[in-house]
Amino acid sequence: MQNFINMLRTFILSALLGIASISYAQSSDRIIPLPAKSKYSNGSFVLAKNTAVYFDERDSALLLAVSPLSITLEKFGVKLSKSIATAKASIHIELDNSIAAEEGYRLVILPGKISIKAKTATGIFYGVQSLLQLLPLQAKATTLKLPCVTIEDEPRFAYRGVMLDVARHYMSIEFLKKLLNLLAMQKMNRFHLHLTDSQGWRFESKKYPKLTQIGAYRKGTPLNTTYDYNSRPGDTLYGSFYTQQQLRDLVKYAADRFITIIPEIEMPAHSKSALASYPGLACVDSSGNPFPYPQQVQDEYCTKDETFNFLNNILDEVMDIFPSQYIHVAGDEAGKANWKTCPHDIKRMKEQGLANVEELQSYFIKRIEQHVNSRGRSIIGWDEILQGGLAPNATVMSWTGIEGGIKAAQQHHNVIMTPGGYCYLDHYQSNAPGEPVAFGGLTTLAKTYSYNPIPEELTASEAKYILGTQGNLWTEYIPTPAKAEYMIFPRAIALAEVGWSPQETRTYESFITRLIPYLKRLDKLKVNYSKHLFEIKLKTAINTKGQVTASLGGVPKGYKMYYTLDGTIPTVKSSLYVKPVAIHKNSTMIAAVISNGIIVDQLKKNFVLHKATAKSIELETPPAKQYSKGGNAACINGSLGNDENFSDDDWLGWNGKTFNGTIDLGKAQQVSSLQTRFFHQPSSWVWAAKNVTVLVSADGKNFTEVAGKSMDVPANEGAAKFSLNWPAVAARYIKVIAEPVGKIAAGNVGAGDEAWLFVDELIVD
Ligand code: ACM
Repeated sequence: MQNFINMLRTFILSALLGIASISYAQSSDRIIPLPAKSKYSNGSFVLAKNTAVYFDERDSALLLAVSPLSITLEKFGVKLSKSIATAKASIHIELDNSIAAEEGYRLVILPGKISIKAKTATGIFYGVQSLLQLLPLQAKATTLKLPCVTIEDEPRFAYRGVMLDVARHYMSIEFLKKLLNLLAMQKMNRFHLHLTDSQGWRFESKKYPKLTQIGAYRKGTPLNTTYDYNSRPGDTLYGSFYTQQQLRDLVKYAADRFITIIPEIEMPAHSKSALASYPGLACVDSSGNPFPYPQQVQDEYCTKDETFNFLNNILDEVMDIFPSQYIHVAGDEAGKANWKTCPHDIKRMKEQGLANVEELQSYFIKRIEQHVNSRGRSIIGWDEILQGGLAPNATVMSWTGIEGGIKAAQQHHNVIMTPGGYCYLDHYQSNAPGEPVAFGGLTTLAKTYSYNPIPEELTASEAKYILGTQGNLWTEYIPTPAKAEYMIFPRAIALAEVGWSPQETRTYESFITRLIPYLKRLDKLKVNYSKHLFEIKLKTAINTKGQVTASLGGVPKGYKMYYTLDGTIPTVKSSLYVKPVAIHKNSTMIAAVISNGIIVDQLKKNFVLHKATAKSIELETPPAKQYSKGGNAACINGSLGNDENFSDDDWLGWNGKTFNGTIDLGKAQQVSSLQTRFFHQPSSWVWAAKNVTVLVSADGKNFTEVAGKSMDVPANEGAAKFSLNWPAVAARYIKVIAEPVGKIAAGNVGAGDEAWLFVDELIVD
C-alpha cells in the first residue's frame, strides 16, 4: 500500500514538473563534495547556443557567484542571452529566503531549464560549483547535455579550510591564487595563511621594516637536515615576503571566491625571524650574535612590555589588511626555557601571581586576545593555548590529537579539528618507493577520508562547538608549488568532503568513483596531484622453480593493474596483471592502476639477480621484530629496498648489533664481489655500517677472509652503496659481517645511544 502511495506521489510530482518519469534508482552522483541530497532522473538538459541566464545583475555578490558559470559557458561557445523569446534553454538563478542554510542551495535541472536557488550569494556560488562539475570538460554547446537532477545541499560544518605555511618556504602569489581557485571548486571557505615562523617572516610591516629586511631571508645552510630542508646551498640568502598591497589583493581574490583568509602570526615561539630582526624582544639580546640568522637566536619572545607593544602593532597592521573575524595567534610548541631564568619573565610571573611558565604563556595569549577582541575580532590558537588556562573567547585549533579539541569543546570554546594523523598534509601519503621526502608518518588518502571531526567523547550539545576541519601543509620539506600541490591534492579534496558531506552517506568507495573523473579536471588545471588513491602492495617471493616473483595487491576489485619491467610508465597497452610475475633478469618494475584512462596509483621496484638470489641465508642475530617484515630472505630475494626510507619489507634492521649472515649457494661457485646498501639517516638514529668483512668457505665451518674494509660516513641521508671486490675464488658459503658504528657520537641526534644498522640485498657475483 505504502508503495502504491509512493508511486502515485511520484506520478503526480512528475506530472506537475512536466517530467516523463523520475527514476529513484541509485543516484549517480558525480559531485565532490557529495551533496547532502540528490535525486537523478531520466532526461537531460541540452545546452543551446543561445542559452538565457537570468539573475539580478545589480547584485554584485550574485554577479561574482555566477561568474564562473558565465565564463565556462562562454568557453563552450554559448552566447548568453537575456531574451526568453530566442532562448531554447534557460538558467534561472535567484536568492530565496525559504532555503534555511546560509551556505545551502537547491539545484534543479530539468529538460530546457536549470534553476539554482539559495539564501545567500555564497549558496548560489556553491550551486554553480556543483553545476560546473556536472558539465563535461569539453563539448560543443549544442551537444552538451546535463543529467536531470534535484540537489538539495548544505554543508555539515561551517569551517572548511586548508592551511599553507609560507614561512618555511615562500610561495608565490600566483600559486596562492591557483590554490584558492582549487579550494573554491571544493566548496572550501577558509584559507589559513601561516605568515611567520622561525625560518621566515613574510608579512610586510610598515612600522617594523627590519622584519622583512632581515627576517624574510635566511642563510641557505641547513640548521639540520630535518628542520631547514632544501634551502639554498652555501651562503646564498633565501627568501621573500608579501607586500601589504599584494595581501590586500589576495584577500579580495579569495573573497571573490567566497573564501576568507585567516592570517597567522606566530607567538610566543617559532619566532626566530622576528627576534633576529628585533633582538631586543628576546630574553637574551642576541644583537652581538656571531652566528648568521637563524642559528643561535632563541625561539621565543620575552614577556616584557616591548613585546606586547610590538605584537599589538603588528596585529593592528594585520587586521587592517585581513577582514577575517578570526586572527590566528599560534601559541604552539613554546619550550619556555628562557622564561624560567630571564629576570623580565620572572618579574612578570611575580607581579601577575603566576605559578609557572605555563601560566605565563596563558597570560601572554590572554593579553594578546584582549587587544584582538578590542578591535572586534577573535583569536584562534593551537592546542597549547589550553596550557595554564584558555583565554576567555579563544577558539582552539586542535592538532596534537583530538584531546585538545575535546577539552576546549567541553569548556564551551569553539574548535577547529586538524589532528595530525588525519589532517597533516606534510605526512607521507604512501609508502611506495620514490615518494618525495616528507615530514614523516603515513596519512593515506583513505585515512584522511575516514576522519570524522566530531569526537565520540562529546555530547550533542558539546559537539556544536566543533566548527569544522582543516588540512595543514607545513613546508619544511616543500620548496616548490609543484611539491605543495603533490602533498595537498587529493587529500584536501577528501577533507573537503569530510567537512561538507553528511557522515552517514559518504563512503570511500563512492568518493574514489567520483574522484577519478575529477582528477581529469585537475589535469586540465595542471595540478601536480599525487597518484596514490590506493596503496599497491608488492610482495617478492621465490616460487617452486626457484624464481623470484612479484605479486601485486592492495587494490579493490574492479580496478585493473598494468605493469612494465623496463622502468617505463605503464599504459593500458602494457601487461595486465593477473598473477605473480616471474622476474628473469635485472628489472625495474612499475605497476600502475589505470582507471578512466589515468594512472591513479603507481609503484616502482628494482630487482637485481645475482649468484645468491633465491639461495638460503642464516643470520647469527635476527633483526629487530619491527624491521624484519621481509624475513631473512630479504637479503637475497633479488628485490632492492626503498631508496628513501627503511620501512619496507626489503630493509632489515638491527639496533646496536653486528650483522652476521652466511649465504649457502648450494654448490661451490666462483665469486669475486659483494655489493650492498646500508641505510643512513642520522636524524633517525640510523647509521651506515662502520666496516664490512667477507669470508668464504667450502664446508660452512672453516672460513677464510677474502675482503674487508671500513665504510666512510655517507655525505647524504638515504640508501648508501657499499662494495667489496676480491680475486675470484670458488666457494659455497659466503659470510658477510657488517659492524654498526656503535654508540652515536656527541653532536648527533640520539648521541650516546646505540645506532641502528639497516641492510639491503647482499648482491654476490
Ligand atoms: C603545529 O604543528 N606546530 C601546530
